[in-house]
Amino acid sequence: MDIMEAMQARHSVRSYTDKPIEGETLEMLEKTIDECNRESGLHIQLVRNEPMAFGGGLAHYGKFADVKNYLALVGKKDKQLDEQCGYYGEKIVLAAQTLGLNTCWVGLTFKKVPDAFTITDGEKLVVVIAIGYGVTQGAARQSKTGLGPFSKVDLGIVKYHFELGSGKDRMLWL
Ligand SMILES: Cc1cc2nc3c(=O)[nH]c(=O)nc-3n(C[C@H](O)[C@H](O)[C@H](O)COP(=O)(O)O)c2cc1C
Repeated sequence: MDIMEAMQARHSVRSYTDKPIEGETLEMLEKTIDECNRESGLHIQLVRNEPMAFGGGLAHYGKFADVKNYLALVGKKDKQLDEQCGYYGEKIVLAAQTLGLNTCWVGLTFKKVPDAFTITDGEKLVVVIAIGYGVTQGAARQSKTGLGPFSKVDLGIVKYHFELGSGKDRMLWL
């Protein structure tokens, strides 16, 4: 699956199997995260085998079930931070889809587990993204309308999709 196919195939997934992220898949995912961090200056971290953010041993946590891995989208407090997290988070989300992984962006319905990842001075956590092997591949839903607390993150996500669709690069926005 290439990145354009990933864009079509990817839907949010909230229930996960026990299959761990490991081997070549883990290496490729970490490589993508490193590249995004290097390019953006963000401090995105992959947290693995940490179920407490999504209810620990509970079978269900809100709409989520068995989330054990997530990306913590951390970066320096700045007015561009939310949009940057949207842009680079989506880049990782679509790369993950090409690796056979599923994802769900999560702004509100998770618990912040302080020791699971690092937030240094001047940084903050913007959102997390649940990641792993989904029980299903999810399904298309009607897009939501209206502004919300994560509108700038949404803008970053949309900008990345627009670049892929238009064949332009990041220079488009400068
Ligand atoms: C920035 C952001 C924050 C989100 N926060 C939550 C959340 O707290 N809880 C949740 O269940 N889904 C959350 N979502 C997932 C959306 O509800 C989901 O993207 C939407 O249902 C559309 O589905 P799709 O991703 O399959 O297109 C969030 C999505 C985004 C982009």
